[in-house]
Amino acid sequence: MDFKNKFYYMLAPIEDMTDSCFRTLCYRYGADLTLIELIRFESLAKNNKSSWERIKLYDDTPTLIQIIGEREQFLKKFLSKLSPEKGFLGFNLNLGCPAPNFVNKGVGCAMVKRISKTKKLIGIIKDYGYGTSIKMRLGLNQYEKEKKTYLNLIKGVNADFFIVHARHGNQTYNEKADWSIFPECVKTGKNIIANGDIETKEDIKKIKSFGCKGVMIGRAAIINPLIFAELKGLSTPSIDKIKAEYGRLLKERNPPFRYQKNIFKHLRSNVEFKEI
Ligand SMILES: Cc1cc2nc3c(=O)[nH]c(=O)nc-3n(C[C@H](O)[C@H](O)[C@H](O)COP(=O)(O)O)c2cc1C
Repeated sequence: MDFKNKFYYMLAPIEDMTDSCFRTLCYRYGADLTLIELIRFESLAKNNKSSWERIKLYDDTPTLIQIIGEREQFLKKFLSKLSPEKGFLGFNLNLGCPAPNFVNKGVGCAMVKRISKTKKLIGIIKDYGYGTSIKMRLGLNQYEKEKKTYLNLIKGVNADFFIVHARHGNQTYNEKADWSIFPECVKTGKNIIANGDIETKEDIKKIKSFGCKGVMIGRAAIINPLIFAELKGLSTPSIDKIKAEYGRLLKERNPPFRYQKNIFKHLRSNVEFKEI
């Protein structure tokens, strides 16, 4: 990653949608970096077949594997089994998921306040020589947001970059993301990538004015995978060409049917996203 000279456009991980076919498509049309949706590293350590299938890479699309969990021994066990494939650029630790099954175990957005645990996990990934990043919400709830839990985490942990989804864990997508927090995150001196409701060239201008090093785009990219090219001012093919290209990738790689079902439900539509 070259944060000094480049502003990054990243595809957000969206469960059951951003598989390798969709990630490749977005990379071909302007996304600089893509993320695999969250996977429990405990499942990978325990050789769960479908988890290992999800981290399989098919080409050189720049990709981070997003992991979630807390027990160091499982992370070490998984990392000792991994042989990095072409396209793999490192790991992203999820400190953002608000789903109760994760929050109740103290992970996802409940981990934003667990600085020493986060440091340990990031340290283990570094010991193996891999790139590290964190995707986080602003804490578990409004109280943690007001206490600036997210700033303490950014200051206290040394990851290569931090993707900040500007909502706390109790907020739904009906509430606007709060971009006013980005300047203070940037002031920590860490590399900050902005996430939440970013869609237009005006949005990019605003995010750049805060000093962020890039943007991450989720739902708007599912609706329109050409968004990265459009935001960068590159020429774009027709949506029919994109659908055919995606169809060819599906044929080649044959991911579980739910991926294409979910993509085709949202592509160029107003269908609401199920909350996560
Ligand atoms: C259906 C759905 C699934 C998601 N799955 C993940 C996930 O696996 N990992 C993650 O970090 N964020 C996940 N997110 C959050 C997105 O990555 C992103 O942070 C959020 O949608 C805000 O960005 P946007 O406004 O550009 O969509 C998910 C969001 C949705 C709507």
